[in-house]
Amino acid sequence: MQNPPVMNSNIVLIGMMGCGKTTVGEIISEIGGLSFVDTDTLIESRVQMTVPQIFEKHGEPYFRALETEAAKQAGSHTNAVIATGGGMILSADNMKHLRGFVVYLRCEAWQLYERVGDDPNRPLLSGTFNKNFLENMLATREPLYKLYSNFIINAGEHKADELAKIILKEHALDKQRLE
Ligand code: S3P
Repeated sequence: MQNPPVMNSNIVLIGMMGCGKTTVGEIISEIGGLSFVDTDTLIESRVQMTVPQIFEKHGEPYFRALETEAAKQAGSHTNAVIATGGGMILSADNMKHLRGFVVYLRCEAWQLYERVGDDPNRPLLSGTFNKNFLENMLATREPLYKLYSNFIINAGEHKADELAKIILKEHALDKQRLE
């Protein structure tokens, strides 16, 4: 007899830069006993460069290719919470690798703007960055965040530890539904 399929119980956090994926992911990992994986960190350790350095030296397409490799690597984990870069949803292939309970941490453009300003560690926001740019980026990406998510939460309305608890509760309910 074949073994029953192993259910992938990962929690995958998606959303725009500054919506709190890393912070919330770390708290989920701590209180939920899941391992923590951050795709930007996987990329940085693979090439021994920071994200801004990768953008500056090799450009965005190279970064996106590394991001797909990181999605593959992150998706091979089980019982993990995976924080993704804001652009992860730009490739359907990436999202095929990142199975699990996918949560969109939703924020309004003004909330994101307040949080990230023109953060030098976020290369897409440097140079010509302004509020308009962020609004357009959110408008383009939001349908994809919605498309790939199993659960959407208004991240701007809760503190990080509240978000973590709500997500863990929904994840447990989702697992029950699948059993
Ligand atoms: C990006 C978001 C960043 C990082 C890179 C590109 C994006 O991650 O992956 O700068 O395209 O939105 P965070 O969302 O963690 O800032």
